[in-house]
Amino acid sequence: MTLVLRHPVMIAAGCGGTGPELAPYVEMADLPFVTRTLTRDPRAGSPGARMAESPSGLLNAIGMDNPGVAHFLEHELPWLVRAGAQVFVSLAGSTLGEYAELARRVGAAPGVAGIEVNVSAPDPGGAGIFEAREPFHAASAVAAVRRATPADLPVLAKLRPDVARVVESARAAVEAGATAVVVGNAVPAALPGGRPAGLTGPAIAPVALRCVTEVCGRLPQVVVVGCGGVADVAGARALLGAGAAAVQVGTALLRDPTTAMRLLAALGTDPSTRPREEP
Ligand SMILES: Cc1cc2nc3c(=O)[nH]c(=O)nc-3n(C[C@H](O)[C@H](O)[C@H](O)COP(=O)(O)O)c2cc1C
Repeated sequence: MTLVLRHPVMIAAGCGGTGPELAPYVEMADLPFVTRTLTRDPRAGSPGARMAESPSGLLNAIGMDNPGVAHFLEHELPWLVRAGAQVFVSLAGSTLGEYAELARRVGAAPGVAGIEVNVSAPDPGGAGIFEAREPFHAASAVAAVRRATPADLPVLAKLRPDVARVVESARAAVEAGATAVVVGNAVPAALPGGRPAGLTGPAIAPVALRCVTEVCGRLPQVVVVGCGGVADVAGARALLGAGAAAVQVGTALLRDPTTAMRLLAALGTDPSTRPREEP
């Protein structure tokens, strides 16, 4: 199976709210939208300050604040499906069994277009989720999700932007059944004072480009979605030029939620970035 996106621009996990917040600024119909990461049980997230600015980047320590998968399926998914979005549900478990349970519940929900396995949280220990420290850990979570998910539903593995391990992680994730890999997530960093956080935004664009270039160069048969620091058409084209099939946009939406629409308008007319045809 392959990943069929209706557009080459996706909304990155956690950066499009639950959907209605973004809707005034984008055409939701056909938009590939990744939800914030959902866990089995509701989580209150980190106490205290959760965001800080750094030069050309954003630091966040949200701690996977989310209402739990049952609330999502009952109260958030129906709106996204009615709006016509191509909904990819981001999941994280504290154990492999939890990844599988989440995948079973989400995979059975009508209207879900795919699952994104979050194996790249910048502070998994602090958020209380399974820590994919080594590539085989990430692969184990992907395998647990793949086994519990209908065969025709794409499974994306969202990998750490760890230049030294990203090719190995991508290979392991695909061998474990991932349809595509998202390269990557926030760069592990710290808030002033030292609390673990994730760095995102323009500051990490060169890291994402390096990771995407490595994975696409070494694993040309793997479908790669580039993510990290995309804020304008040039940034998106850089990742697509390195071999990504699509890009995700995150932090840029917090500053200007029309960014996704502007990217789509520009890239949608570019024949090299037209979404794939259904095989
Ligand atoms: C406020 C905020 C919330 C985020 N929430 C999630 C999340 O729930 N799950 C996840 O996998 N990534 C999450 N991310 C990471 C983004 O999806 C994206 O991978 C990262 O920000 C890098 O892309 P960017 O530089 O375009 O923002 C979040 C990022 C931000 C800024």
